[in-house]
Amino acid sequence: MAYRITLKPSGHSYECEAGKNILQAGLDAGRMLPYSCRAGVCRTCRGTIVEGKVDYGRVHDTYLPESDKAKGYALLCQATPLSDLVVEVREVQGVRPRLIPCRVERLDRPVPDVTVIGLRLPMNENFRFLAGQYIDILLKDGKRRSYSIGTRPDPGGVTALELHVRHTPGGLFTDQVFSTLKVRDLLRFEGPLGSFYLREESDKPIVMVASGTGFAPIKAMCEYAFDTKMEGLSRYDGHAGLRLRRTGDGRRRARRFQRKLWPAAR
Ligand SMILES: Cc1cc2nc3c(=O)[nH]c(=O)nc-3n(C[C@H](O)[C@H](O)[C@H](O)COP(=O)(O)OP(=O)(O)OC[C@H]3O[C@@H](n4cnc5c(N)ncnc54)[C@H](O)[C@@H]3O)c2cc1C
Ligand code: FES
Repeated sequence: MAYRITLKPSGHSYECEAGKNILQAGLDAGRMLPYSCRAGVCRTCRGTIVEGKVDYGRVHDTYLPESDKAKGYALLCQATPLSDLVVEVREVQGVRPRLIPCRVERLDRPVPDVTVIGLRLPMNENFRFLAGQYIDILLKDGKRRSYSIGTRPDPGGVTALELHVRHTPGGLFTDQVFSTLKVRDLLRFEGPLGSFYLREESDKPIVMVASGTGFAPIKAMCEYAFDTKMEGLSRYDGHAGLRLRRTGDGRRRARRFQRKLWPAAR
């Protein structure tokens, strides 16, 4: 049995099979709904059930307390419909994700636990994305791992991407990155993904804060903002390496790390 989901304010609608989550059915129907973790913890996919009933799914109270449910909120990556629904959620802009093959072009290790992977895409790909988005590297057995794009987008598309990958000891993908992955190896990814991107049209102040490899999407956004001469932008600082400072490795090492990751920072 399928239910009809109508989105507000766009008025777009699609069918969702009973038992399927509202987010997945929307993505399958080509709707650009916001999401990130798909695991019920980041709340990026939160929408308001304006009409109809849902099963909230397996969501911990921390991420969707009873008080939120009372206000009509549901996490669309977990919630399944129990009737036709009207859901208030803002669809995001951006390019539809695709599966793309790529080759490892560069492997740099600015610090022992971070590898910067340079990926080369086929010359005819012209991969378009929004500054701040991420891609999923596709692994064997349908597994995937997400990495933010550290490269600034270009309106004409790009054929090279940079990822900043931190080693998670015992981790399926990052153990490979830090042991067997070589230049010229082939990978496949799906992207662009995610609704964390620079809101160029916003007239609100924007403060960029990042730590660790969370620096990658911020780097992409800052470089893009500077490239496009976003109004009101006056200054940017590269502060990659804060973790090194805290762990006592010293300012000099931190600055070297920063310069390697972001030579343009001043
Ligand atoms: C939107 C998004 C963007 C991201 N961007 C970045 C980025 O730019 N850079 C970055 O470095 N990371 C990023 N991540 C995290 C990244 O996707 C991976 O989760 C991370 O690299 C670990 O992947 P892995 O395969 O090496 O580890 P996994 O195999 O997922 O393992 C993670 C940890 O769990 C442990 N573990 C695994 N299986 C078991 C088990 N059965 N029992 C007990 N413990 C277990 C492992 O030992 C390891 O410590 C991002 C994640 C998201 C969601
Ligand atoms: S996508 Fe993260 S909570 Fe739904």
